[in-house]
Amino acid sequence: MKRTISDLKDLKGKRVLLRCDFNVPLDNWGDILDDNRIVQAIPTISYLNNAGCKLIICSHLGRPKGYDKFLSLFPVAVSLMKQFPNKVKFCSKVVGLEVDDAVSKMKDGEILVLENLRFNKGEEENDPKFVDQLCKLADVYVDDAFGVAHRKHASNYGVALKMPSAIGFLIQKELNVFDKAFKDPSHPFVAIFGGAKVEDKLPLINNVMNVADVIIIGGAMAYTFLQAKDINIGVSIVAEDQVGNARAILRTADERGIKILLPVDHVAVVGEKGRPIKTTELKSDMMALDIGKKTIKLFAAEIMKAKQIMWNGPMGKYEDHAFRNGTLKIAKAVAKSGAYSIVGGGDSVSAVKACGVADKINHLSTGGGASLKLMEGKPLPAVEVIDCI
Ligand code: 3PG
Repeated sequence: MKRTISDLKDLKGKRVLLRCDFNVPLDNWGDILDDNRIVQAIPTISYLNNAGCKLIICSHLGRPKGYDKFLSLFPVAVSLMKQFPNKVKFCSKVVGLEVDDAVSKMKDGEILVLENLRFNKGEEENDPKFVDQLCKLADVYVDDAFGVAHRKHASNYGVALKMPSAIGFLIQKELNVFDKAFKDPSHPFVAIFGGAKVEDKLPLINNVMNVADVIIIGGAMAYTFLQAKDINIGVSIVAEDQVGNARAILRTADERGIKILLPVDHVAVVGEKGRPIKTTELKSDMMALDIGKKTIKLFAAEIMKAKQIMWNGPMGKYEDHAFRNGTLKIAKAVAKSGAYSIVGGGDSVSAVKACGVADKINHLSTGGGASLKLMEGKPLPAVEVIDCI
């Protein structure tokens, strides 16, 4: 069993390095558009703060190539200053003399937020020198950055290998939710998949087929499955090299009595800038970009019967307002179902929020890639290296 922060004793006076995932969306003024990842980190921060340690918090933000003033963690530090008045300071460096000095001046119960880890290229390269500089800052390491736990970076994987380590409450919660969903699911278990990257989603579908009763497939990936069934898909996007794998999944589902639902009508366009057309049958020059009304009804009917739902990926081209309807309607159906629901992935989570139904979803995962790994049944490298008890 992995060591958790509740297993850490005598934290008073100790220097604790806490890795969070504060990769939050910012507008051009540096205002935080969605602070969910900060809110979700508060239980761990409060616990460590109440324990009287010197808390050094680090995180990445975006994908900068070197320093980028638009990706500073300062707005996050300001948000934490409001939550923990008079306790939080910000250091505009990631490692080095300025940081060492700020840490050496910390008093028990103080919190220091470091600048964006990815301003240092050693972070993503898991550079041993950068790992050593981070390790030097603290006595104990706590990882609560679920969203990045599928990556082997210096501040999660590298540091955890070298320091006494534990996971925080958020990682613990995320792991427990996915573990229970697979090991002790409520039936009927309906899994909903969407999005474009078929090759990324097929391993998940294969794993989910071990426990789910119904699998709903929408979004661009659905057209690879429709192609595998020899249904006309016009010029909709297909991963040609995955058609065989999609056919194998359909066959396995059939043998095991698992229901797979695919779109039966669509919102499509002719040409790149064509107007949205509602259609049951795709003509040879049409590209489907969202699910149609009959499909929404078909999917929603199955969702209403569910006792457990796991959803990842949009039903259409969500980034374009003209093709959002399917995803928004599915979000509403999941919320209305009363089933135990887990939603992961940027667009699905954003759809749930856009409909104002986030409070009806049991678990909105804070990790896109990390939650996909868990759905695939694969371990998270950064969690694997945490000390056991
Ligand atoms: C995320 O937003 O999914 C995590 O913060 C990981 O970010 P990354 O994909 O840039 O590593």
